[in-house]
Amino acid sequence: MSRIPSKTRQRVEQNTTEWVGINRVICGDSREVLQRIRPDSIALSVWSPPYFVGKSYERHLSYEDWEALLRDVIAQHTRILRPGAFMAVNIADILCYPDTSIPRFQAENVVSKNRLPVTREAILKILERQPSLNRYEIAERLGVSEQTVDRRLKNNNIRGGKHSPQTRVKLTGHLVEDFAYRSGLYLYDRRVWAKDPAWENSRWHSNSYRAVDEFEHIYIFWKPGITKVDRARLSREEWSRWGSRAVWHFPSVRTNDDHEAKFPSELPRRLVRLLTEPGDVVLDPFAGSGTALVTAIELGRAFLGVELQPTYAALAHRACMKATQSMAHGLWTNPARSG
Ligand SMILES: C[S@@+](CC[C@H](N)C(=O)[O-])C[C@H]1O[C@@H](n2cnc3c(N)ncnc32)[C@H](O)[C@@H]1O
Repeated sequence: MSRIPSKTRQRVEQNTTEWVGINRVICGDSREVLQRIRPDSIALSVWSPPYFVGKSYERHLSYEDWEALLRDVIAQHTRILRPGAFMAVNIADILCYPDTSIPRFQAENVVSKNRLPVTREAILKILERQPSLNRYEIAERLGVSEQTVDRRLKNNNIRGGKHSPQTRVKLTGHLVEDFAYRSGLYLYDRRVWAKDPAWENSRWHSNSYRAVDEFEHIYIFWKPGITKVDRARLSREEWSRWGSRAVWHFPSVRTNDDHEAKFPSELPRRLVRLLTEPGDVVLDPFAGSGTALVTAIELGRAFLGVELQPTYAALAHRACMKATQSMAHGLWTNPARSG
């Protein structure tokens, strides 16, 4: 047994830990990598986790695994956030949470009993005949959206399916709030991101009373400590247009060609501008294609990204290198200055 008193041992361990450096993308599991981030070093952690909707990068997770992932990553933030700093979580509710314990929804459909007629096999057949067609052209031929074609090709249907009679809406905000609260982080603010109405994404309005998915949440948590409040970070016009507004309107990413669930750069851009200063470190523990990291670079902040999938980590790394080079060569115009 060690004879070092536990407090001293903690100090010794802290001094000998090799902390990860900044301005890099690390390929790994956030639950492990975040343990190696220097305490009190992050000014803003801005991220969008897997949403438990059946994307390829989350298929290995059971619902319980998914909750545990959120809980563990949130818990790590208490140590790594600077006192007074923020964690901004962009998440949506789960619209089709499969639950066989609930009664079956019994719809008497007077409009159409048709399921969405486009199958993966139908798309593959078209591709067999005309391999040069892209998914927009296929979508046009089939009278569906490009996203439908993409989802069918990637076998990426929403878990449980929109047509399953045993799915329910599952709210996620209370989970995030509860995990944060138990870790010593407090809900400071929340915004709604109103995306474009995705009618073309879905035909379920023809055989359901459910709304299509057109908004997401942004929950902003605060670590106790002194927070600098600088109203000069935005212009008067920006404060009234979005800085002080609870509902943010901007479109989602229309072409998820290199990553299947990117958020638009406007989302991290607003949060980085509102909640950090130049030189601060911005973290994204679910970096994906690196959108938040690139935005941080463009705004003159330091960055740190963690991504589990090697392909996405490499994508984010390349994007960050490119943004850093553009900044160094003055090739980028800061939208914060140009309006
Ligand atoms: C919703 S996407 C984030 C997309 C990102 N905001 C963008 O704009 O590209 C979630 C990402 O988290 C990654 N991921 C899932 N589990 C992870 C884990 N345990 N550690 C790190 N990354 C993880 C997935 O591979 C996926 O790229």
